[in-house]
Amino acid sequence: MKSIQVELGARSYPIHVKSGLLHNIPKILSDYNHGQKWMIISQYNLMELFGFDLLNQLKENGYQIDFITLPVGESAKSMNEFSRVISQMVEFNCDRSASILALGGGVVGDVAGFVAASFMRGIDYFQIPTTLLAMVDSAIGGKTGINIAEGKNLVGAIYQPKGVLVDPEILASLPKEEVTAGLGEVIKYGAIWDYHFLNDIAGWMKNLDTFPYEDAIAKSCEIKSEVVSKDEREGGLRRILNFGHTIGHALESHLGYGRIRHGEAVALGMKCAGYISHKLGLLKKDEQSNLVETINRLPLPKLRHINGNHLMPFIKTDKKSEKGTLNFVVLEGLGNATTTTEVTEDLIRESLKVLN
Ligand SMILES: NC(=O)c1ccc[n+]([C@@H]2O[C@H](COP(=O)([O-])OP(=O)(O)OC[C@H]3O[C@@H](n4cnc5c(N)ncnc54)[C@H](O)[C@@H]3O)[C@@H](O)[C@H]2O)c1
Ligand SMILES: [Zn+2]
Repeated sequence: MKSIQVELGARSYPIHVKSGLLHNIPKILSDYNHGQKWMIISQYNLMELFGFDLLNQLKENGYQIDFITLPVGESAKSMNEFSRVISQMVEFNCDRSASILALGGGVVGDVAGFVAASFMRGIDYFQIPTTLLAMVDSAIGGKTGINIAEGKNLVGAIYQPKGVLVDPEILASLPKEEVTAGLGEVIKYGAIWDYHFLNDIAGWMKNLDTFPYEDAIAKSCEIKSEVVSKDEREGGLRRILNFGHTIGHALESHLGYGRIRHGEAVALGMKCAGYISHKLGLLKKDEQSNLVETINRLPLPKLRHINGNHLMPFIKTDKKSEKGTLNFVVLEGLGNATTTTEVTEDLIRESLKVLN
């Protein structure tokens, strides 16, 4: 088992990555079980796939455990669902000693994490991510939250789990497109932090059927935890994790959620950000081509011509949230990211041509 420590002083926690780990959860959690109430928060389809097995295993090992399900899709990240889960926690006699297991993708992790952050002013929780995106990204770093009508993730907390338990075998039941979309985030880690990792990914992606998910997940978790350990609240360094995301988020909003997967939008956003980095004299031409070639190995959706005029308002929304300045993440060479406020609207428009 590969174990990575997220170093945050008293709030430090381990990420365990191992194929087949799902069958060992009672043992892994045994040090944390002191007779308290445990709740699995998940989705019904995931309970059928692995949640009921997990529930039974834990019961057989003496855990006092029940489960709550959320609907599938972004609609689960709502005030209504949040308050319904909190009420159910009370009905199940959860108190301040209760612990939550968040079993699911980013949607479940974000809601369950926010429930853990707020129920009785905060209780322990563990992330058991089931999508590649959640394994390498959303389950790590403690960002939790829900959406309101005015925007995504506008209500939430940074609240760290007690542990993250990753079983790459779980990906077998995930639709292939969801897995490859998650690879967009994996490429991101190589691009922003580790040139050798990026090279490895490029090689592995020549044949997606033999892609070594366990190694790639462990390395991605290592990189994310290093960044989060240095800047938990996104005061500076953590922003580099948004590489590809300014244009990526704008594409998601412009095309409409559900039309393009997050990881796919990020992959396309990284192509534009690579172009911008080159134009600013920070990334050599051959490095830019290398990045684009790697990204192009992903089966990405074909987009109709993207009109800069349609995209810009969404990019400005990102800018608004940063007090008027757009902190754009660029590469200063492959494997090394930094932020700049020098990226103009014109350059962003120009970069969109790499999408066609
Ligand atoms: N907190 C963070 O730091 C952070 C970071 C990135 C994204 N997010 C959030 O994550 C969410 C997206 O997460 P996601 O991409 O994991 O999507 P998701 O949680 O909606 O999961 C996608 C779908 O796959 C199903 N599924 C999950 N695992 C499965 C499995 N192993 N087999 C079969 N089906 C499975 C789910 O039931 C769901 O229908 C967004 O709401 C986004 O805002 C949060
Ligand atoms: Zn992302």
